[in-house]
Amino acid sequence: MLDIDIIRKSIYGKGFISSVYYFDEIESTNTFASNNDVPVDSLVITEYQSEGKGRLGRNWESEKYSGLTFSIKKMLPLSPAGNQNVVFYFSYYLYKAIRETLKDYLTESEVGKLQIKWPNDILFDWKKLCGILIESKLPDGIFIIGIGINCNQTQFPDNLNAISLSQIINKELNLTELFIQLIDEFSTNFNKLLNSDFKEIYNNWKNSTNIMGKECNISLNPDYVKYGKIIDLNDDGSISIEIDKKVEKFYSGDIKLTGFN
Ligand code: BTN
Repeated sequence: MLDIDIIRKSIYGKGFISSVYYFDEIESTNTFASNNDVPVDSLVITEYQSEGKGRLGRNWESEKYSGLTFSIKKMLPLSPAGNQNVVFYFSYYLYKAIRETLKDYLTESEVGKLQIKWPNDILFDWKKLCGILIESKLPDGIFIIGIGINCNQTQFPDNLNAISLSQIINKELNLTELFIQLIDEFSTNFNKLLNSDFKEIYNNWKNSTNIMGKECNISLNPDYVKYGKIIDLNDDGSISIEIDKKVEKFYSGDIKLTGFN
């Protein structure tokens, strides 16, 4: 269970979050945060979501008191063409914070099993550890960054191909400490996003992936699934895939690496 008083004390005053909404249970932190009454720079965090949302209309399910499920509401003056930088930023610094945690328990080569999967999943050993759902309200530049992390859950349905931090390190983690580390990582580096250091953010993000040259199925919806080889991950947020000897760019969708999941 989270210690919300410690969380409040440690994050207020850092200039990144100015309001905290905490719920024992709620439908979805993203849905709550999207309400106009919730000001920007808010954090919405819960122990359990009854209708957690995933990308592409999927669900995000997590056992009560076992994971981190939260949303951050931010106003970012980016041009519509710059939205992918929010994806790069939050997925990279989430990856980095988790990596730092794992370093305390695993060898360097084991830590290397952590990676970002386009566009913004965090995988360990090709299994899903974290998911991010970023929803934006344009043209106002409001972004709701929703993050789910499998922390202390010990069982998942097989079809999810998921894993938790406790399964990786064989130890239960303190959710409050992990969460504070995460927010520290987001807030310390936030100037990079505000100052448009997009090249650095993109390079870090790209270097944390391990899918280049791999074969995959890409699906945009259940009726569109194509098989091809990953050629590049581009700074406009798209993925280039060679399908039938022709390179095609995709701006959204889901990839499944063949042979891994
Ligand atoms: C995905 O992998 O498809 C994205 C999952 C995102 C889940 C998080 S949990 C907190 C926030 N609230 C939601 O309803 N979804 C996101």
